[in-house]
Amino acid sequence: MTAGRVGGEPGRVGGEPGPVVLEAGGPGAVRIRTATGADRRVIDEICRRTGDAGGDARGSGIDLDELVARYVDPYLELEPALAVVGETAAGEVVGYALGTVDTATFARRWRGGAPADSHAAHVGGGAAAERERWAEELMVPEIAEYPSHLHIDLLPEAQGRGLGRRLIEEVVRRLTAAGSSGVHLGVDPRNAGALTFYPRVGFTEVRRDPEVVVFVRGLTPPRAPTVT
Ligand SMILES: CC(C)(COP(=O)(O)OP(=O)(O)OC[C@H]1O[C@@H](n2cnc3c(N)ncnc32)[C@H](O)[C@@H]1OP(=O)(O)O)[C@@H](O)C(=O)NCCC(=O)NCCS
Repeated sequence: MTAGRVGGEPGRVGGEPGPVVLEAGGPGAVRIRTATGADRRVIDEICRRTGDAGGDARGSGIDLDELVARYVDPYLELEPALAVVGETAAGEVVGYALGTVDTATFARRWRGGAPADSHAAHVGGGAAAERERWAEELMVPEIAEYPSHLHIDLLPEAQGRGLGRRLIEEVVRRLTAAGSSGVHLGVDPRNAGALTFYPRVGFTEVRRDPEVVVFVRGLTPPRAPTVT
């Protein structure tokens, strides 16, 4: 299958994507690994190409810088161990999932509110007032029972092949290992694909507002080893 390549030429920032080839053999041809700093530009690009209710946000009027500053940068900087990508055998990153174990802590660090955390004081783009507002919007009622949250986006050519499920399961595995009791996420009500996807991968809809549909999934912490 041929479609847009993510990444462009080495060293070129923000270039128009070229061709990508997903290997025959389906999702098995795509491996999942932890994201590195070198993936940032590709992840930004995928975010822009899927940021309008699952569709291309470029040319939609959506502020693309804000999109990345809200939904990519803080996750890569504050929770790099939860950032995973799907990479083809040819080394093309075609999708990602980003998340955080504890939304309240994440929001506090994003605001730069942790005095000992000098790194967090400049997380991502946006003015301090904007970051304050974005961080506040993360503090939804669901965090009480489902403290983690995540984001996932795949290039159109990588969708519908099982990669989304695999990325979700990998993030869920990492969240569970980190001791999280549950994960929530918000979906644009116009995003019919995502509204169908999440119930298929273990999430339950708990709230539907005009601007967001909220899904949750409980996580079972690993059992402590039995001492005999
Ligand atoms: C939503 C998204 C992450 C799903 O990942 P995916 O790899 O396409 O989904 P999978 O192939 O793993 O599908 C898993 C299940 O969900 C179903 N599903 C996924 N997308 C679907 C769609 N658009 N319509 C109907 N069912 C869908 C599949 O049929 C499958 O069900 P089954 O296993 O019971 O047969 C991906 O399509 C995507 O990135 N879309 C654009 C960006 C986006 O919307 N992100 C989410 C924002 S909240």
